[in-house]
Amino acid sequence: MKIYLIGFTLLVIANSVTLQLSSVYQCSCENLLQQADCLSDYCTWDPNGSTCTNKACSVFKENDCKGVPDPFNCVWNSKTSKCEDFTSCSDYSYKMVEGDLCYDLIKCQVDVDTIDSTAGTVKCTDRTQESALSIGSCDKVPYSECNWLVTSDGKQCVKNVSAQTCETKTITQCSDYTSIDVCNTNSCYWGDSCKPLTCSILPEDACMLFFSIDAKQVTFCNWDGTKCSDVDTTTLTQTQCLPYTLYSYAWNPDTKKCEICQEPSSSSKFILYGSILLAILLN
Ligand SMILES: *[C@@H]1O[C@H](CO)[C@@H](O)[C@H](O)[C@H]1NC(C)=O
Ligand SMILES: *[C@@H]1O[C@H](CO)[C@@H](O)[C@H](O)[C@H]1NC(C)=O
Repeated sequence: MKIYLIGFTLLVIANSVTLQLSSVYQCSCENLLQQADCLSDYCTWDPNGSTCTNKACSVFKENDCKGVPDPFNCVWNSKTSKCEDFTSCSDYSYKMVEGDLCYDLIKCQVDVDTIDSTAGTVKCTDRTQESALSIGSCDKVPYSECNWLVTSDGKQCVKNVSAQTCETKTITQCSDYTSIDVCNTNSCYWGDSCKPLTCSILPEDACMLFFSIDAKQVTFCNWDGTKCSDVDTTTLTQTQCLPYTLYSYAWNPDTKKCEICQEPSSSSKFILYGSILLAILLN
């Protein structure tokens, strides 16, 4: 029974797609090996060399600019209304209430030490950890922006609704959020207590992905017409491969499989470790 359970867990890990953040959104046109996959809105197909290459940032309008994966290195400049090559996180500064725009750049976060209360601005800085909600510390985070940011020592910024302050809390599971007001909507949902999200809980309009509680991992979901299910990359077709995985997997015409654009080192190690464990138990 024990062996069966572990085997079952492994199967779930191997088939559903939970990726480290560093592997999400990493496909580039170079990963698209056939003309049929080489999306003409974002890429240029060279019929001579049979290669697909990224278009330059300057040709993209706002939505495409914001939507292309990280390897394009594009960011939208709202001041000039142009799509530009991303330079460095510290080159960008925003109004304090728009600090979350730092997270739309490439591997950047808000730098709470650069809050200028007179000018009402804040600068961005390099991400200090692979979390989508990384922050240096919760101390200077305004109440309105205090939405589950994650510090490098594994704590979180959580609203104290009655005191209207931003507190540093130790959060390891959804039930650590004690009220509906602070239940982390990126990873949990409220149903008489704060509970962990799964794909099967999500309604059609939210059936896309959810984050782990530290925002370091992403799980992909897909609506199959009647319910929301985990994406299983081993069954994805050529046309489903890119969009169902948020440009993290691309079709490999040689193996005829949907394959990751960038190897997720830690999760493959985990699967390997799990297989070894299973082999030991079965012997
Ligand atoms: C492909 O090769 C033809 C003939 O050599 C050449 O005229 C054309 O410019 C090449 N196309 C590209 C996209 O390089
Ligand atoms: C909110 O802050 C008040 C005052 O500092 C404190 O007494 C209370 O325990 C806090 N509530 C939570 C949920 O942490």
